[in-house]
Amino acid sequence: MRALSIKALALVLGLTAANAAGAGGAAVPAREVADMLYALALANRTVYTRDIVQRLGPAGDGVVPATEHYLDSSALPLPAQMFALVSEEIDDTGYWLSLRSLDPINFANAPLTPLEEEGLAYVQANPGEAFYAEDAAAGAPSLVAIYADVASVEACVACHNAHPRSPRRDFALGDVMGGVIVRVFLPQ
Ligand code: HEC
Repeated sequence: MRALSIKALALVLGLTAANAAGAGGAAVPAREVADMLYALALANRTVYTRDIVQRLGPAGDGVVPATEHYLDSSALPLPAQMFALVSEEIDDTGYWLSLRSLDPINFANAPLTPLEEEGLAYVQANPGEAFYAEDAAAGAPSLVAIYADVASVEACVACHNAHPRSPRRDFALGDVMGGVIVRVFLPQ
């Protein structure tokens, strides 16, 4: 149900973005659509981490831990995996969400296009600023918006630096570890 309502929201935003003047309403610029989707994705991730993972795992009795191999045991997906699951649910709506990094644990989370690579490097150097650019390399013209993903708690750093598949082991608190990428396909 929840996934359906996210799809419905994305659809409404899509129609609004695609319908230019003449359809009775003002068009929402693609950048604003990206910012809105990012705000929703971030809120989702914060609530999942704070109110579910923290309460059931470390801050509670560790009754239901969050682990990478959650499918093989009674465990919750990691926040990054939860993000990917939600992203899969909306990927047929004209929007893509992804969490990627120049130093990914999972190689599938490396940048998808040279522009994504450029944007991830940009937010790493300018964490307070979002990166926006139009990209034609994902099958159809789209706006790519990238927002820095920062190591906000020690657990981010500890887990990534110790992970056997992590290509980088010197992350520190406050570092940009990657970026949230919102891709909004543009009406043609
Ligand atoms: C318990 C371990 C753990 C913790 C804590 C953790 N991560 Fe991760 N993170 C992972 C794993 C494992 C993946 C790869 C998931 C997958 O298979 O796609 C990942 C993926 C990511 C990615 C996508 C790129 C990549 O490395 O594959 C980013 C960005 C990221 N995490 C940032 C963070 C941030 C920021 C925090 C803290 C707010 C955090 N992580 C906390 C284990 C962790």
